[in-house]
Amino acid sequence: MSVPVRPAAQPPTTAERLAEYERRRAEALAPVPPEAVERQHSRGKLTARERVALLLDPDSFVETDALVRHRCHDFGMQERRPAGDGVVTGHGTVDGRQVFVFAQDFTVFGGSLGEMYGQKIVKVMDLALRTGCPVIGINDSGGARIQEGVESLALYAEIVRRHVGASGVVPQISLMAGPCAGGAVYAPAVTDFVVMVDGISHMFVTGPEVLRVVTGESVDREELGGAGGHSTGSGVAHHLAGNEADAFAYVRALLGFLPANALEDPPEYPRAGGYGVADTEPALDVLVPDDPGRPYDMREVLSAVLDDGELLDVQPLFARNIICGYGRVEGRSVGVVANQPTYLAGALDIAASEKAARFIRTCDAFNVPVLTFVDVPGFLPGVEQERGGIIRRGAKLIYAYAEATVPMVTVVTRKAYGGGYGVMGSKHLGTDVNLAWPTAEIAVMGGESAVTVLHKDALKSAADPAAERARLRRHYERTLCSPYVAAERGYVDAVIRPRDTRREVADALRMLRSKRPERPPRKHGNIPL
Ligand code: HXC
Repeated sequence: MSVPVRPAAQPPTTAERLAEYERRRAEALAPVPPEAVERQHSRGKLTARERVALLLDPDSFVETDALVRHRCHDFGMQERRPAGDGVVTGHGTVDGRQVFVFAQDFTVFGGSLGEMYGQKIVKVMDLALRTGCPVIGINDSGGARIQEGVESLALYAEIVRRHVGASGVVPQISLMAGPCAGGAVYAPAVTDFVVMVDGISHMFVTGPEVLRVVTGESVDREELGGAGGHSTGSGVAHHLAGNEADAFAYVRALLGFLPANALEDPPEYPRAGGYGVADTEPALDVLVPDDPGRPYDMREVLSAVLDDGELLDVQPLFARNIICGYGRVEGRSVGVVANQPTYLAGALDIAASEKAARFIRTCDAFNVPVLTFVDVPGFLPGVEQERGGIIRRGAKLIYAYAEATVPMVTVVTRKAYGGGYGVMGSKHLGTDVNLAWPTAEIAVMGGESAVTVLHKDALKSAADPAAERARLRRHYERTLCSPYVAAERGYVDAVIRPRDTRREVADALRMLRSKRPERPPRKHGNIPL
């Protein structure tokens, strides 16, 4: 359509104004040149808008600040002022529930964050907090925009302050979708969940190029901050996705277990036709081996207890001796914490303590009941653990359980020894309902260790030390290694048939729905960090 142009002295016509709007809108919606899009695609990455489309319900995205441009005039920046300034921001819905989103665009100045870009993120975060909705950040950025100097640093600090202000108020999820450095890793690090994509996401304080110049270290980006390392060793990532579609599917699933904000309960998915699992599961009666040294897979218990047998794992590759994840019982969210006997015998080490502590605090912040399954020989002893700070770092788990006020239900399947008994959701730390299988062994330590400590001299002088050891051990195990001493004292509320675990857990969670705990006023607790 050709628009009649008036002499410059006259104000523009309405048609001219609309044409100007269409021109600017088109520029704002496609600020990325096709070759840049191609470059992004050739790395197996999607563009910022493609990512937003994958995350949100179809046609639900409402973009904000598409017309924003940077106002930097140094280093030739005035020659390149793309609309949107390298970040797509706005709101939309996931399964019909409102969320706020920002998606960094690596094709514009490497996704780096400057003043106006930062202001756009601040705006959606403020709106999210005002309306009580989750924030999802899609990160693909070299961090603070070097050309904008202190403005970039200031805005990153503003963003981090907002993440902290929103912590425990609305869920915050960070999806890492490219090489991320500086503020682009520290800001996500304070959010509730970090999702990485194998081969595509990298997280480091500073990248390999800068590292080579500053410290002389030569390392590739995969080794320095690849998704694999952050999912297994550092524990920075909560989910390792195979590709971007998997990452977005995980984020959408995660949101389904969480409320929009801390004043609400998680969404419910009641079903008239049952929940895909039987109320009784005879296979659980034979799950625990006769030999206490033999492991079994705790996931079999979880499959029998959770709706459809489904668990959404959180940090499954990190600290595999403890399982954390979300599931549902009768359509309602639960956060599961379970020792895994197949790995390190389910012992609590530093990594497991920190993983579970963080998970329990996230559940507690967002009104998700905590369901604990216990088979733990205790804290992992040893020089490495002691030097690494198992006392300080293991204390986080004690703190997290004792601080939590959501409904809590614990089932002891086998070992609950020593500190492990006290820590893993015991009645004494505030758990509401404690159940135990007949195979539970609740004691200070196992028979072998107890006999060694208690009967050192008797064993030395025995005619047949091996036979005497076996006799003493049998006596100890029959006297103390059972659920009944705890049950007599009310420390476990009931000893249950393993096959009935789902029904018993469902009854307990139903009873606890109206739990309304009170906490004395204080500024905040002082969890050991
Ligand atoms: C401006 C940047 C940039 C940045 C990358 N670019 N990072 N521009 N500021 N921080 C630009 C590059 O110049 C390049 O522009 C384009 O983005 C793509 O970058 P490449 O290096 O070609 O890409 P790649 O090889 O994939 O490497 C990506 C990278 C690397 C690993 C992120 O760019 C890098 O190391 N950047 C610096 C990271 C860093 O140290 N940031 C820390 C900032 S301090 P052209 O025009 O050539 O395409 C910080 C503190 C915040 O963030 C404080 C929070 C509290």
